[in-house]
This record gives sequence, C-alpha cells and structure tokens, in this order.
Amino acid sequence: MIYEITGGRRLRGECRVQGSKNSALPILACSLLCRGETVIRNCPVLSDVEATFAILRHLGCRVSREGHTVTVDSASVTADDIPDTLMREMRSSVIFLGAILARNGRASLSTPGGCEIGLRPIDLHLDAMRRLGAQVREEFGRIVCEAPGGLRGAKIPLSFPSVGATENIMIAASLAQGETTVTNAAREPEISDLADFLNGCGAKIAGAGEGTVVIEGVERLSPAGHTVIPDRIAAATYLAAAAVTGGEITLTGIIPAHLGPEIGVFEEAGCRVEADCRRIRINAPSRLRPVKMIRTMPYPGFPTDFQAPAAAMLTGAAGVSVIIETIFENRFKYVGELTRFGAKLRVDGRMAVIDGVERLYGANVVSPDLRGGAALLVAGLAAEGVTRVYDSRHIERGYESPERVLSGLSAEIRRVEEDGTER
Ligand code: EPZ
Repeated sequence: MIYEITGGRRLRGECRVQGSKNSALPILACSLLCRGETVIRNCPVLSDVEATFAILRHLGCRVSREGHTVTVDSASVTADDIPDTLMREMRSSVIFLGAILARNGRASLSTPGGCEIGLRPIDLHLDAMRRLGAQVREEFGRIVCEAPGGLRGAKIPLSFPSVGATENIMIAASLAQGETTVTNAAREPEISDLADFLNGCGAKIAGAGEGTVVIEGVERLSPAGHTVIPDRIAAATYLAAAAVTGGEITLTGIIPAHLGPEIGVFEEAGCRVEADCRRIRINAPSRLRPVKMIRTMPYPGFPTDFQAPAAAMLTGAAGVSVIIETIFENRFKYVGELTRFGAKLRVDGRMAVIDGVERLYGANVVSPDLRGGAALLVAGLAAEGVTRVYDSRHIERGYESPERVLSGLSAEIRRVEEDGTER
C-alpha cells in the first residue's frame, strides 16, 4: 500500500493519541504469566500488536479484541517456543523470553538477527537469564533457555540501560524465588507501565522508572485489567507534522511529562507549546528555526524513535541543524529518501547535518523502516505537490491509521493500492 499526500496544507484541529506500541507489546507478552483472562485497554491497532497476538496464539493462548480492548486467556499454555517465522516478523519478540521461561521453565526462540536499524543483539537479555539461574545455550541459530527448578533472584548490573532487557528481567524475576535488583535499568515510561501492570497482577516491583529496580519474587500472578499509556512517539510525530506545516493542533489523551526533550526541540524551533496534565497544544511559525544539536539518549533523554521525524521536520528550517544518533548504528536510512524532496542532509557516521531549504517538493519515496517511514510522511505534508510513500507496511507497524489521524487534522492524505485505487 501507498500513502498519497498532497502537501503544503497547514495542520489544524485536535486528535486523541493512540496507546503506546512499546508498552502494549511487553504487557501482552507477560499476560502469559497470569493463567487466566487479562484485559488490556487502549491497545493500539498495529501490525506489531497483531504479530504479538500470533505468538500468544501459537503458545496456546486465546486472544480477542473489541475495538481497543484486548482479552488474553492464558489458562492453558501449550508451547514454549517462538517459531522462526514469527521471530522474523517482529525482532522485538525477544520480549517473550522472560515470560515463556518463567511460565514453562523452558524457552526456545531463534536469534532475532538484525533488522533495518541495527544488529539488535540480545546478549544483555541472555546474561540476565543466566544470572537468574537459567541454562542458556545457542544451537543452529536457536537459543534455548532452561530453568527446570525455577528462577532465583539475583543482582543484575546492566552495562547499558536496555529497554527490552530491563523488561525481560522484570517479567522473569516476578516469579523467581527471592529478590532481584537491576542496576542501570532503563527508565522509559513503558518500563513503569509494565511494572504497574505486573504489580496489578500481584507482583512486587519497586523503583521502575528509576535507575535501580527491585523485584521481590512471588508465588503466582493473577489476571488483572490495565490501560496502556499513550504513545509518546506517535504524539511527537504528529506534533512534528503540525510544526513542519506551520500548523496549530491539540493532542489529547497524552502525558506531556513523557515528552520533555521533544517539547524543548519544538520550542527551540520556534513553536509555542502549551501543555496541561493530559493535552498538548502546538502553534508553529510559518518557517521553523534550526535546532543546534539533537543527541539521542536513553530516557529521559531525547528518544531515538523520534530522531527521524524530527530530522524531517527540520529540513525546511531557516538554518543548519545537527542530529547525533547514539543508540542504534543504522538509523539514518531515511536520509537518502528525504533528499528526493529537495532536502539537503549529510550523514557522517552517527551524525546527520541538515541544511534547511526554502521549500520541499513532492516525491515518490520508499519507507526504509518504521520511524524512517514516519519521517517521509512528515516531509510529504510540508512538500509542495503530491508525495507517494511506498512500503506503508513499515509505518503500520507503529502508527494506527495515520491517514485517518492526519486527515482529521486537515491534511490531504489517503492510503491507496499501488494502482491508485483506495481500499
Ligand atoms: C526498545 O527496543 C524499543 N522497542 C525501540 O523502539 C526503541 O528504539 C529502543 O527500545 C530504545 O528506546 C520496543 O520497546 C518494542 P534496547 P529494544 O534494548 O528494547 C543495544 C520503535 O521504533 N543492546 O534499549 O530493542 C542495542 O543494540 C522501536 O518503536 C545490546 O547491545 O532497545 C541498541 O544499540 C525501534 N544488547 C541499544 O542497546 C542487548 O542485549 C538499545 O537497545 C540489548 C540491546
């Protein structure tokens, strides 16, 4: 499918932000541990979420969805492996490792392998499982973790505040014997949301969202309901779409405190941003100012997932902006596609230099990955003329009906087949 955009229109209006993809995925994975019906509300409609449903069903769970409310019945789990096909569909399926191991005493999955944005190693996950008492062996591209006698609490110092590794540890340690302490833990809001869900199921997790997380193992977890937090990256992306078109929009159902560095960048670019507890309003100038330096960092720093849409937003700024990507090694693949709009960018290793131009022109471009694809939508909204963004499947992994959201904000965008027919 293709997103077809007629750019140059100021975005105006109000929209509610989707639930967080990166919170829903680990929460769905650990519903495996609750041995009953878990109800997850505000769960976004995304292909990555569907891929997680496929893994849950493969493991023996019953999964159903009513709008944005998902019910997972994990009473009878019948498998302890993730097939290669499902692993390849979504690299972040490694988030199931801790849940399958804690539920079955055994977990087998293929090495995720690389993806569009980097090698995505899982050494920190496997080292943590070993520290919790699992035997971990790698054979013929598959990883097998075994802990027939259950897991034991441990001290786990992370050499990098890995989001996924922190989540796998919290999930696996919830049912371990004894206490687990994770130091240099990831502090993303999705970590706190996962801890809130697990504590609602009877886990005993303290310190989530801070550098040190303490998990006291319990005997069992019981199903509980949970409402997923809003998606801070989707929110920032739509704010960037408004900023790049000189627009004025309001986002509701969002937690502004999760967007600290992003709001700072919008303000440095000349936008007026007002925020209260659940809404953000942005009012952009007709032409943005450049942003001297954006450096991606683990939370609460500037998020790597918003780096590409931010770059797209700055291609028309009145001056030079610099972005440094410190988290992933291959997250500038979208830059070549942005130059097709007439944008001027140079990449040197982990640094991108964006020389703002007066105007962008519509182009035919191809999404290289999820956030790179979102960047192309942002650029297309600003560009004069028609833009077609091919390979929409990347974007649909993380953005729920962006054509509906953006049309609701006065953009001219539709999702069409490659032959131009609208589905
Ligand atoms: C999560 O990925 C997110 N995905 C990513 O969002 C996000 O970019 C990333 O965190 C950083 O914020 C989900 O939550 C599903 P990491 P994750 O482990 O857990 C290295 C998106 O666009 N590392 O914090 O995989 C790794 O190579 C996606 O929504 C190891 O070296 O991220 C990377 O350089 C993309 N060994 C860095 O740490 C490990 O064992 C950050 O990875 C694990 C990670």
